Amino acid sequence: MFKTARLVIFFFVSTSLSCVFADQNKVAIASAHPLATAAGFEVIAKGGNVYDAAVAVSAALAVVEPYGSGLGGGAYWLLHREKDNFDVLIDGREKAPLAANMDMYINKSGQVIPKLSLDGALAAAIPGMPAGMVHLSEKYGRLSLAENLAPAIRYANTGFAIGERYLRYLKTRVDVIKQFPSTAAIYLTPDKQVPALYSILRQVDLAKTLMHIAQQGRAGFYEGEIADKLITGINQAGGIWTQADLDAYQIVERKPVVGNYNGIKVTSAPPSSSGGLVLIETLNILQGYDLKTLSDITRKHLIVEAMRRAYHDRSLYLGDTDFIDIPVERLINKDYAAGLRSSIRVDKALPSNLLSGQIENHKEGNNTTHFSIADQEGNRVAATLSINYQFGSAFVAPGTGVLLNDEMDDFDSQPGAINVYGLVGGVANSIAPGKRMLSSMSPTFLETDNKVAVLGTPGGSRIISMVLLATLDFAAGKGPESWVNLPRYHHQFMPDVIEYETAAFSATDLKELEALGHHLKAVQLPYGDMQAVLLNKTTKSLTAASDKRGEGSAQVKP
Ligand code: DON
Repeated sequence: MFKTARLVIFFFVSTSLSCVFADQNKVAIASAHPLATAAGFEVIAKGGNVYDAAVAVSAALAVVEPYGSGLGGGAYWLLHREKDNFDVLIDGREKAPLAANMDMYINKSGQVIPKLSLDGALAAAIPGMPAGMVHLSEKYGRLSLAENLAPAIRYANTGFAIGERYLRYLKTRVDVIKQFPSTAAIYLTPDKQVPALYSILRQVDLAKTLMHIAQQGRAGFYEGEIADKLITGINQAGGIWTQADLDAYQIVERKPVVGNYNGIKVTSAPPSSSGGLVLIETLNILQGYDLKTLSDITRKHLIVEAMRRAYHDRSLYLGDTDFIDIPVERLINKDYAAGLRSSIRVDKALPSNLLSGQIENHKEGNNTTHFSIADQEGNRVAATLSINYQFGSAFVAPGTGVLLNDEMDDFDSQPGAINVYGLVGGVANSIAPGKRMLSSMSPTFLETDNKVAVLGTPGGSRIISMVLLATLDFAAGKGPESWVNLPRYHHQFMPDVIEYETAAFSATDLKELEALGHHLKAVQLPYGDMQAVLLNKTTKSLTAASDKRGEGSAQVKP
């Protein structure tokens, strides 16, 4: 629903500044959108804590970045409470509907039906984001849920000016959005065109749905009027949701995975995300090398070889631990990593097909969102939120304003099949009723005696390698501005190729990496939108940085 706006240009200046303050009672917030960061500070100003701010930022992102995350999706919130040194991960990942089955995206001749797990109502899993926000607010916040959702409701009602990033993603999905009148009515002009830059997007139905949640908590989404509209709308469009699915949805509080890399404590997301395990396994492999003494090219080669092996284990072992056993202790065991390290040659890349699996094409999307928050005491939240592909399934259940996820694509529709991020997997991540699909989202804390970093990014399968490069940069003594803007490269076992932003490698690097046996592919667009915060525990200074690739806002304020 659009009104043309002449006046509004204000918020779309990237504020990727880093700010350092040493005063007491400050909070740092880095998020992918200035209005989301502002929502966090709005509830802090009302007396809220970092967890209230996390609810306000999550809800605001659902409104102002509808292409990346939202009530129709899922999220992981990694929390730390300083007073009792308590860490927890709130797993609000979506779950497969109870009527889902392993063959739901397979045709009669046994082939995966293209797009069925990506576009439209059958791609949508049961959302966890509303339940997660309610839980986070009620259990950890100081303010009421209604106070924490107020900025998002206001943004949805009064509207906001859409920016270049929004339009870029909309253009990639406009053809699918046009197929669904309920979606086109919100995001496209009345004649189903892409709106002009800085047009005002109002989402009145979404505001109403948020109001239901504000007033009734979890029941405002998973029961009653909104639930009825979701179920009816989805089933009329070919989906398979029932009230039993919504009743059965529960977030899970999980113990984060913890590793140690050269004295840095690494705390990250456990399964149902692969993020923490793959990150820690890669770091464990790399810990056997003194990276700073190596030549630049050897360092890059070894980092890639470590990524290759850890992503290989991802495809073999990882899935939802509520359904399958994962050898977690083995995967983060340092001797296991030493075994993998012993298979790495300094002078030669190991072709991935000698590890196992098949070579497939890689596709990539770019949505999802991450934010990082910390206060001067050390309380903090790292959260990555997603509806999967840009604009999710592109299906809005009529009358709800809720854009549904297409997270079902993160399952392996068939062992060995690839998903939209080119990831291969096996039975560990096959579809089952009520199961969570494997994620790569990696909200992470890094900690030394006097420093705490809070970080994460969107980017599909590349999330983990981005967080890895940032972790190595932290280990090398660099600050948030450097981590978020590092040139990036990535290897995920299959396809057997290093994908890289052009700034990551010089012409000589490329020649030398090829000589070692690597295959290389430059990515056309920069990728990721990392948001990071650093607390110096000794000086109590906070620094925040927002990836220059995006339109985010990093601020430190009372
Ligand atoms: O959970 C996951 O790993 C994916 N659904 C995340 C998607 C994502 O980050 C898209 N951004 N490029």
